[in-house]
Order: sequence, then C-alpha cells, then structure tokens
Amino acid sequence: MTEKKESLKHVTTKVLYALKQKGEKITMLTAYDFLTAKFLDASGIEVILVGDSLGNVIQGNETTLPVSLEEMIYHTKIVKRAVKNAIVVADMTFMSYQVGVKEAITNCGRMMKETGCDAVKMEGGDYIAETVRRVVEIGIPVMGHLGLTPQSINKFGSYKTRGTDKEEAEKIFKDSLLLEKSGCFAIVLEKIPAKLGTKISRALKIPTIGIGAGPDCDGQVLVTHDMLGLVEDFKPRFVRHYANLAAETKEAFKKYIKDVKEKKFPTKDESY
Ligand code: KIV
Repeated sequence: MTEKKESLKHVTTKVLYALKQKGEKITMLTAYDFLTAKFLDASGIEVILVGDSLGNVIQGNETTLPVSLEEMIYHTKIVKRAVKNAIVVADMTFMSYQVGVKEAITNCGRMMKETGCDAVKMEGGDYIAETVRRVVEIGIPVMGHLGLTPQSINKFGSYKTRGTDKEEAEKIFKDSLLLEKSGCFAIVLEKIPAKLGTKISRALKIPTIGIGAGPDCDGQVLVTHDMLGLVEDFKPRFVRHYANLAAETKEAFKKYIKDVKEKKFPTKDESY
C-alpha cells in the first residue's frame, strides 16, 4: 500500500486544530472556478470553500436552495484540480443530507469520491448531529455551520442576525457543543453577535470560522466575490472590500468596446 505523500505545506484538519491551539487565525474564502482557486491557493489561504453561495453569485438565484448536488460536484471538481495546499471543503446542498443518515452518507460519499474534496460542510445543529457522527465515522471530515444558515432562510424569513435573544443564543451554543461532540473538525458561525462568537470559540477545542461573528473566532471566511467588490448590491456590515473589481471590470469592458468601435483594436502588432 502506498502512503499519500504529504507535502509540508499541505493543510489538513489537524493543521487547523494546531493553528487554533497556537492562537494563529485561520483564513478561508470561497471559490467555484479553477483560476480563483489557483490564486487563492498560491496566496496561502488555508481553507477553500466551494460554497453553495454559488447559487447567488454564479447562478444569480435569490437563495442557495436551488443549487443541485450535481452542480456542486461539477464546481468542486474544477476547484480541486487547481489546489495543491489548501483544504477544499464542499458545501452539501439543501436536501442532500437532511432526509436521513443513509441518503446523507450516499451523497457525502459521492461528493468526496467524485470530486476529491477534503471535507464537506453541512448546515444545522441537533437535527444533523447523528448524520455528522455517521459521516465522520466512515472517514469524511465534516465542517458544521450555525447561526444564519442560508438554507433555512424560508424558516427565518430574513437575513437578520441570529442568536440575538437569550433562547436562540443558548440553542446555538448547545448546538456547537453537540457538533463538536459529533465529530465536526470546525464550525462556521454566520451572523451572530460577537459576544456569542467569543463564547463558542472559547468553549470549543475545534476551530470556529466566523462570518459576521466577531473578531474572536479562530478564523474568518468571506465570499470571495463579496470581498473583491464584485457584488454591488450586497454590502452587509461584515463584508470588507479588498478591491473594487465591479467598477474596474466594467471600466475594462467599456474601454474594449470603445477601442473596437473606434478601430483601435487590434493594431498591426496585435495581428498575424
Ligand atoms: O456558501 C457559502 O459561501 C458559505 C459561506 C458564506 C460560509 O456557506
């Protein structure tokens, strides 16, 4: 039997755990295509999430609910092809893991076997705990996701902050303990009060990855299209723009159109 060659830089779930213990923040961003994944990996990101947010930013849907397992498999395969060092985590889609343990195992197994991803992510607390336990048991690492879980948007009725009242905060806290006990290697905490993010991050041994969950989470994640300033009509408080690519891209398109119309492109030098 040959052992998988482990390059020194290859990130594993154990590396993430060690980063938390060292107090070094974990970085995670989304990718759905080859080039973005390649750039992220080359930049030294630790976790690349093939998020079902592709339903919003790639497919133009209002929610993540319509994304199919086949579509996630398609994008995850492409991302995985570009990545050498980071952990690639694939989102399990709405209704691909909620029906029952057997179906969840089949679908998570398909995701891992067909894409070569390193882990899967599932949204939810106590109602998926047994599923997480069984999926982890067969060798598939699972990242949890609590707080504003977008697949439950129809139950929530809005994208407002979760866990602002005592009862819901307590439920999210208990769910985080349960997910850790069930075998999750990390948990995304989305849009919850910073105080709750701190409490959970301190209580868990596994890393928390925050998105609108305050500065004390063990790592941070953003949707890449948001942080690059590509999505113009979505600017929640937790998104910081590290570039303004929407404006730059539109400017480039306009310049190209102008050059072609004015017969300035291509020149002789750009011809054969
Ligand atoms: O789908 C996604 O991109 C996510 C992140 C927002 C955490 O779940």
